Amino acid sequence: MNEYDWHKIKELAITWVKEASNQLKASLEETIHVETKSSPDDLVTEMDRKIEQYFLQKIQMNFPNHAFLGEEGISSEEFDNRDTIWIIDPIDGTTNFVHQQYNFAICVAVYHKGEGKVGIIYDVMNDELFHAVAGQGAFRNEERLESLAPVKVDKAIIGLNARWLLYKGKAFQPIVVDLVRQVRGVRSYGSAALEMAYVASGRLDGYISLRLSPWDFAAALVLLNEVGGCYSTFYGEPLAILKASSVFVGKPQFHDVVIRKFVQKELNS
Ligand code: IPD
Ligand code: CA
Ligand code: CA
Repeated sequence: MNEYDWHKIKELAITWVKEASNQLKASLEETIHVETKSSPDDLVTEMDRKIEQYFLQKIQMNFPNHAFLGEEGISSEEFDNRDTIWIIDPIDGTTNFVHQQYNFAICVAVYHKGEGKVGIIYDVMNDELFHAVAGQGAFRNEERLESLAPVKVDKAIIGLNARWLLYKGKAFQPIVVDLVRQVRGVRSYGSAALEMAYVASGRLDGYISLRLSPWDFAAALVLLNEVGGCYSTFYGEPLAILKASSVFVGKPQFHDVVIRKFVQKELNS
């Protein structure tokens, strides 16, 4: 296969995502071994590792010149020197996978020379596939997603993990509290990737996290580019695709107003 035919690459990656999702669904019938990573609420299962390994094998077999970065520790050596990188989150929402068997996603992104070319976020249990190729539109299953319309802060519904409200003493905390007070509603689904796919598809108007990693947001940015969604760090700086950082994605006007009137105003006061 032509290693720059992004549409064909997406179609192939979708077949892998569907196969991986069958493995995940089958595993829910068995006892899953769960471990903790950095903290008691940071979970990993053998399925996270198995699915990551599955993608690595497929990518190495089909695209030996491409680099790979996965959440569970697999990365091609010297991936910085290669033009094309696959960024994989085998299960986004592992806590939901373990506790609820619901609202978890497989995320696949392909970046070429720093630009997002392919983004796939698959909600396994709802069979909802969000996918995009740069310049070719974003889709929810077969349906093309529309360009995002502006929304005012008092009509906005945002995705946010309530834990970010607890960090007293951090510069972002009063800003997040103020925003929660002023928006119409706040939702928390437990999968950053799905929440950003919901912004791209208009179900949410914004999503905020004060710390995400490339595998959490890489695929979503490709979707958002296709529908005019805005994204930056919480402080309005550009996102670096291979670095962990805060992330704020939103509808055009909403994103701009939050950065100017909530974040920058508070930080400059
Ligand atoms: C997590 C989920 C969660 C978000 C965390 C992520 P994981 O990813 O997306 O919603 O709040 O910051 O780390 O660990 O389930 O892949
Ligand atoms: Ca994740
Ligand atoms: Ca994960």
